[in-house]
Amino acid sequence: ALITMRQLLDHAAENDYALPAFNVNNLEYIQAVMRAADATDSPVILQASRGARAYAGDAFLRHLILGAAEEYPHIPICLHLDHGDQPSTCISAITNGFTSVMMDGSLLADGKTVASYDYNVDVTAEVVKIAHAAGVSVEGELGCLGNLETGAGDKEDGHGFEGKLSREELLTDPDQALDFVSRTGVDALAVAIGTSHGAYKFTREPDGEILSIETIAKINKKLPNTHLVMHGSSSVPKDLQDLFNAYGGKMKPTWGVPVSEIQKAIPLGVRKVNIDTDLRLAMTGTIRKNFTENPENFDPRNYLKPATALMTEVCKERFEAFRTAGKA
Ligand code: G3H
Ligand code: 13P
Ligand code: ZN
Repeated sequence: ALITMRQLLDHAAENDYALPAFNVNNLEYIQAVMRAADATDSPVILQASRGARAYAGDAFLRHLILGAAEEYPHIPICLHLDHGDQPSTCISAITNGFTSVMMDGSLLADGKTVASYDYNVDVTAEVVKIAHAAGVSVEGELGCLGNLETGAGDKEDGHGFEGKLSREELLTDPDQALDFVSRTGVDALAVAIGTSHGAYKFTREPDGEILSIETIAKINKKLPNTHLVMHGSSSVPKDLQDLFNAYGGKMKPTWGVPVSEIQKAIPLGVRKVNIDTDLRLAMTGTIRKNFTENPENFDPRNYLKPATALMTEVCKERFEAFRTAGKA
């Protein structure tokens, strides 16, 4: 059955675990997440970005996810809008069957201008009012995701501020977080701690200077009952980089968010961990390998099957690591 994000995150808080929220764009992603959830007995958050909605179409997405719910009736599923850019985007998601929406008011609707605090409070509170009336959960975002070494936003996948920000601006302020949650009534809060979207998060293995788990601890102290969300939390594992590069892919050396760092954040109130890049890399790496090894093949199922299988493995690892396993 489809349930709200709030229900899932409340259960996660009561039992001190987190849910990976996987970005999905088509059938194969959804099959991968559901097979992993089934194998590990995990509850599921499937999230679709504006790009995913444009790619697949809302009706296809909705029915694919209803298909997942029918195929796996014992697994609770939340359908979440990732990075809604304005209230109208959230409302159209609600009318299309999403049970949870993110209003990301940290940036203006152009996706690249840092918004004022008041703007963020206003648009987020507006969405909370409408969504809650419809029985839908809301995630807000406070602070700008970006690189603490360079001050740059994450432009690679089309959203992220232009120019550079200071360390203070790149880390969510705990006092402001307290004010934001009380003024908006969000069900979950995405925070900025030095992560960014895409493959190129860090140029070295991250330490506390460039990945601030300490900021999460400070926010959790002010807001012990608020569910926190980590964005840009793919681990970009070396083996997936190697697979992609071994078959003609061109990815420069890079580091993601280590699973061990995410595990430290879970007792500090992180209940939702967003992952997109790792599944992209697993799928594309496998397809590259297959194209190289089987140049005579032209049946897409022959390369989509192993691609889905590797995505399933990545999902299983995250369900186990975040202690989501066994909680369905
Ligand atoms: O937050 C970003 C996610 O990785 C979704 O990316 O907008 O390219 O679908 P996308
Ligand atoms: P990654 O690019 O690290 O997978 O982050 C995904 C994300 O935060 C989606 O909102
Ligand atoms: Zn994100």
